[in-house]
Amino acid sequence: MLLYKKIAAKKEKIGVIGLGYVGMPIAVAFSKKASVIGFDVNEHKINLYRSGIDPTNEVGDKAISTCTVDFTSDETRLRDAKFHIVAVPTPVKPDHTPDLTPVENASHILGRNLSKNSIVVYESTVYPGVTEEICIPILESESGLKCGEDFKVGYSPERINPGDKVHRLETITKIVSGMDQETLDEIAKVYEMVVDAGVYRAESIRVAEAAKVIENSQRDINIAFMNELSIIFNRMGIDTKAVLDAAGTKWNFLKFAPGLVGGHCIGVDPYYLTYKAEQLGYHSQIILSGRQINDDMGKYIAENLIKSLIKTDVSIKNARVAILGFTFKENCPDTRNTKVIDIVNELKEYGITPIITDPIADVTETLREYNVIFKDIQDIQNMDAVILAVPHNEFKKLQKDDINKMFRNTNNCNKTIIDIKGLLDRQEYQSAGYIYWRL
Ligand SMILES: NC(=O)c1ccc[n+]([C@@H]2O[C@H](COP(=O)([O-])OP(=O)(O)OC[C@H]3O[C@@H](n4cnc5c(N)ncnc54)[C@H](O)[C@@H]3O)[C@@H](O)[C@H]2O)c1
Repeated sequence: MLLYKKIAAKKEKIGVIGLGYVGMPIAVAFSKKASVIGFDVNEHKINLYRSGIDPTNEVGDKAISTCTVDFTSDETRLRDAKFHIVAVPTPVKPDHTPDLTPVENASHILGRNLSKNSIVVYESTVYPGVTEEICIPILESESGLKCGEDFKVGYSPERINPGDKVHRLETITKIVSGMDQETLDEIAKVYEMVVDAGVYRAESIRVAEAAKVIENSQRDINIAFMNELSIIFNRMGIDTKAVLDAAGTKWNFLKFAPGLVGGHCIGVDPYYLTYKAEQLGYHSQIILSGRQINDDMGKYIAENLIKSLIKTDVSIKNARVAILGFTFKENCPDTRNTKVIDIVNELKEYGITPIITDPIADVTETLREYNVIFKDIQDIQNMDAVILAVPHNEFKKLQKDDINKMFRNTNNCNKTIIDIKGLLDRQEYQSAGYIYWRL
């Protein structure tokens, strides 16, 4: 009997290694159709899941508490599974080169616990070659098994978009790849059990690895172009959003907007590609330029705020500045690699310690990683400037009165609003006399 049939019949189990924003939805989705062992090295996370709490908010507490995933931090439990999905982080080091430690560690763990006739599918975003050049040798040496004979390997990149309830695992076409035709078929059939949108069979593992890394690089470059336009139009005194709205009426004008590019995907994955290119003797021109522009936007925004405060005669040292939103993207609690911290750090250079509020950010992670403690939105009062940094749904509800209450009791011409993503009606605030600035 083929492996996917045994899985569907619950005669064999699926193991998911790494239960974060990607691994958890996969484990929960598969558990509706198959027996799933969910393994994570983080015991605290496993305990949260066992008590029915979803800190990522991707599947929700109810789905976690009612699902049948067998959560464990005991790696030997993986021996009970035959089809493994690896979804561990792939960050970059401070010098922007890939940090493959989690993928390597996961491969060591899996290798030690790999049984004959298993299939291992990597989902972590990597540069082309990582699965075959780095992961397979580790699996082989740890297990003493031979890849291609005793076990098979594939790669299936993850395309979910945290916080997005429309584009989910089930509704996004899943790229699958395998080391040979038979493996590809098995992997495709397994994913077809949960992905309603179907699978796309890539012609090789490297093609699938490359496809994922360029999807995010393309977004990064397009956003970088918008950010560059924003810098240019700012100098010209032209509103970028108004320009983009006008240009967007052309059928083939791509709809991107300027903004902060944070998180652990779009702002990181391009470095994986440029690293590998560099190893092969090619120095990226476009990808790295885009990265540079996007990485500098936090500083640029802070500098514009300072200019505005000077123009409005506010003493920089004593300026009271609030930041609304701290996560790397809207409606998602994840603060890893948020670029809002760049604004905070730049303002600190000027002696300003901003007050930050974020109703949905992961409070513990934020304190641990950035030493930032949030204030309640009601405590945002007597400000000279308010930065709307992340367009959470909660902030979309704010009315002009709510915004006004955040400021000092002074003329509107002394109140600066930095509306990074253009959440507010620019003309409404400008005609009321506020100093309004956006990218
Ligand atoms: N979050 C996204 O939006 C997204 C989207 C597409 C692709 N990806 C990619 O998917 C991968 C996972 O991302 P994520 O957002 O789920 O990360 P995450 O940090 O939310 O989750 C990863 C989990 O892996 C665990 N882990 C780390 N090392 C481990 C090991 N050796 N063995 C077992 N567990 C281990 C961590 O404890 C954590 O719970 C990354 O490569 C990322 O680039 C992420």
